[in-house]
Amino acid sequence: MKVAIASDHGGINIRKEIISLLEEMKIEYVDLGCECDGAVDYPDYAIPVAEMVANGEVDRGILICGTGIGMSIAANKVQGIRCALVHDMFSAKVTREHNNSNILAMGERVIGPGLARSIVETWLTTSFEGGRHETRVNKVSSYEAKVIY
Ligand code: RB5
Repeated sequence: MKVAIASDHGGINIRKEIISLLEEMKIEYVDLGCECDGAVDYPDYAIPVAEMVANGEVDRGILICGTGIGMSIAANKVQGIRCALVHDMFSAKVTREHNNSNILAMGERVIGPGLARSIVETWLTTSFEGGRHETRVNKVSSYEAKVIY
């Protein structure tokens, strides 16, 4: 398992916390920043992470901004990305089991570092259930492919 992680200026503290967690879990990661004093634009971080996941350079992505909303909107524009905005433990588990989400977005202005760590741990260790959920995920992918081509 290899993970790409990034945040804008609104998500730096939780990004650092999650990097510590990835090191504790011995999960390989690529940190795409930001290394910023001032404000940056979330699409400049969400899209590179999403492209790395979509082209198979990494298995999963984790994105943090103030709310997680901008990051999730931007990441979901990249073909093949299923980015889930998650701020509770139930959704962290079920978005893996049912949606096979490949990017997790969180908001540092919404949750604290302890809950963010628990969400990431659950999201990284929960498997996709397949079956009827695969049928549904495939319907989304088919629509996405039809729009692009
Ligand atoms: C930055 O102020 C803020 O808009 C950003 O971190 C994020 O919340 C956007 O969705």
